[in-house]
Amino acid sequence: MALPFKKKTATKTELPEKLPEHVAFIMDGNGRWAKKRGMPRKFGHREGAKTFHDMTRYCRSIGIKNISFYVFSTENWKRPKEEIDAIMNLLWEYLNDCDEYLEQEVRMIFIGDKTRLPEKIQKRMIELEEDSKKYNKMNLILAINYGGRDEIAHAAKLIAQEVKSGNISPDEITEDIISDNLYTKGIPDVDLMIRPSGELRLSNFLIWQCAYAEYYFTDILWPDFSREELNKALVDFSERGRRFGGV
Ligand code: FPP
Repeated sequence: MALPFKKKTATKTELPEKLPEHVAFIMDGNGRWAKKRGMPRKFGHREGAKTFHDMTRYCRSIGIKNISFYVFSTENWKRPKEEIDAIMNLLWEYLNDCDEYLEQEVRMIFIGDKTRLPEKIQKRMIELEEDSKKYNKMNLILAINYGGRDEIAHAAKLIAQEVKSGNISPDEITEDIISDNLYTKGIPDVDLMIRPSGELRLSNFLIWQCAYAEYYFTDILWPDFSREELNKALVDFSERGRRFGGV
């Protein structure tokens, strides 16, 4: 079954000339969106998946090169089984409805620890990564069973192994070597991190990659996040002075 998708909404805010290279989204507020309507939380996730779908299309159409989405965190396993199953089912539906991305030459990259996910999902993720690795119009990065600290610990283990094998010495460990051992190897750091729903935190998402990110927070709940709201975030971003520690 194909995932239902949202009708495109009109935008009135004009896009700025310079767009960020990498935009990351924390898709927060699905549960509250559903609760406000007296519905179970899983309906909020379904509606959130529609917004996600629309955002991927819109970002591809305006030429953003890298977009990341926090789909499921290493901490989300603490949620009730029914909710976890609903998110996994949505993900499964979505993973089987990705032809348009391949047609649009989008590269799909899954970050996080795949090993705890249902086997059919792991297999499909690997297939999609393989089928899309030749494309470069946009990188679509999905964080699933992802945690920033877990990612850094994973990188530390890989580097320790290199040291143990005698390929590098501890003195040779640089920031670049750490970046190259993260799940996001080869992807530029995050320029703009967007979190809807009124929460003002990073929640363990891309913590290394966000060292110099700009943040955009809004009270809108993720299912209501729109193309117009993204345009506003992009304008806001374009007006910020980024100095990366310089003057
Ligand atoms: C956070 O909102 C959202 C999640 C933990 C799940 C995000 C998943 C989706 C949008 C759907 C699946 C995505 C794909 C790619 C098909 P919350 O539940 O914490 O909201 P709340 O803070 O209002 O409770």
